[in-house]
Amino acid sequence: MADSAMDRRKFLGLAASSAAWLAYPPARVLGANDRVRIGLIGAGARGQELLKQVVALPKVECVAVADVYTRRDDEARQIVPGVSAVRDHRRLLDRKDIDAVLVASPLHIHARHFLDTLAAGKDLYCEKTMTWSIAEAEECLAAAKRSSQIVTIGLQHQSSGALADAKQWIKDGTIGKVTQVEAWMSRNTPHGQGQWVRSVPPDCTAANVSWDLFLNGRSARPFDPYAFINWRLFWEFSGGNVTENMVHQIAWIMRALDLPLPTAAYMSGGVFSEKDGREVPDTIAVTFDFPNDLVVTWHSTFSNKHYGIGERLLGSDGTIEHLMGTTDMVTGKAESGIYYYPEQVNRPDGAMLKGETPDRNHMANFIDCVRTRKQPNAPVEIGYRSAIAAHLANMAYRQKQRATQEMVKAAAAHG
Ligand SMILES: NC(=O)c1ccc[n+]([C@@H]2O[C@H](COP(=O)([O-])OP(=O)(O)OC[C@H]3O[C@@H](n4cnc5c(N)ncnc54)[C@H](O)[C@@H]3O)[C@@H](O)[C@H]2O)c1
Repeated sequence: MADSAMDRRKFLGLAASSAAWLAYPPARVLGANDRVRIGLIGAGARGQELLKQVVALPKVECVAVADVYTRRDDEARQIVPGVSAVRDHRRLLDRKDIDAVLVASPLHIHARHFLDTLAAGKDLYCEKTMTWSIAEAEECLAAAKRSSQIVTIGLQHQSSGALADAKQWIKDGTIGKVTQVEAWMSRNTPHGQGQWVRSVPPDCTAANVSWDLFLNGRSARPFDPYAFINWRLFWEFSGGNVTENMVHQIAWIMRALDLPLPTAAYMSGGVFSEKDGREVPDTIAVTFDFPNDLVVTWHSTFSNKHYGIGERLLGSDGTIEHLMGTTDMVTGKAESGIYYYPEQVNRPDGAMLKGETPDRNHMANFIDCVRTRKQPNAPVEIGYRSAIAAHLANMAYRQKQRATQEMVKAAAAHG
């Protein structure tokens, strides 16, 4: 962010002295007929998906989008004909006819957009990961606590039926003491074509992109269309697959087991699949230590997708297995769903269970909370906790050492 370290400390100091938790006030004035008026900051791939989701909901309209790239104006207008389009997000936030803002900008600008949206008095849906850094996560958490605005994070698995099933089974005492969780996420691409790499459109030129707004205080340099389009591949703008995908799964695990922050993280891996100039690793093994005798591992590869995505919560009395597109060893079919298997040694009469709870619509939940001022399914706290876990893992990888809570505190203090 462009803020100086001193500004950041001042911000944190203010946050620490503020005891007021003002979230969920009783009611607010919405547009005529209870319409919710939306603005979108960052109308790229994800922003356009969010736009389609939100305008499909009853009594919701999008009145403006802000994106630094002119191409996105036309793309947004294919979804919302005639929508107003600006380059600078502050012009969107100036508008009095916007109740809530969706943020789907690249990771390194989330905190700027998060803080400015709350300062403008708008409700906020901010894409995951909540922030690019630990210090920004602290700032954003503090700002959300001081604010009366609804804040939700784009961790849509928080609205999944599988999470509700897992929480219920754990509450029912079926799983016993959980000492280990294993999670994984895997993808593959054709040889020579690295995961995430996007081609640069011909109109992606310095004339059509407000490059300074994209850099958002990072050192000035000539326009780099490849980095602009492929920001995910570079540490300056991204946290790699840990912030792109692990964050969903660690948030799911933390919520299922009601976990605090990890005490430490280890992470190994590297750029092994395609050596295409990217900085962030494509092959990753993370281990987290949590208080109360728990280890959580997360493995990820971009060179093999046989096992899809999943989590296994291993308890003394049973196992909860959550699968998304995992290839079954016997049938060869892709498996998805959530299941419980008893440990015969401690639950001889236990039976296997299959989760049946339907998913809830994450975006509809946000809009509902804008109207009712209820707590959203993915509140700022889970955005914060999952962001800190992700940054702890990346810290371990980049510093080639075990990263601890003390290092988080130092990073929060020094920005
Ligand atoms: N929840 C999910 O499942 C999910 C899925 C995909 C992406 N995401 C998240 O959504 C975010 C965006 O990802 P993406 O794939 O859409 O990226 P993208 O590059 O396709 O889109 C980002 C957009 O932001 C614009 N932008 C850049 N700087 C800006 C600024 N200062 N102000 C306004 N707009 C700016 C870019 O021009 C671009 O159109 C990321 O944080 C990503 O992690 C979430």
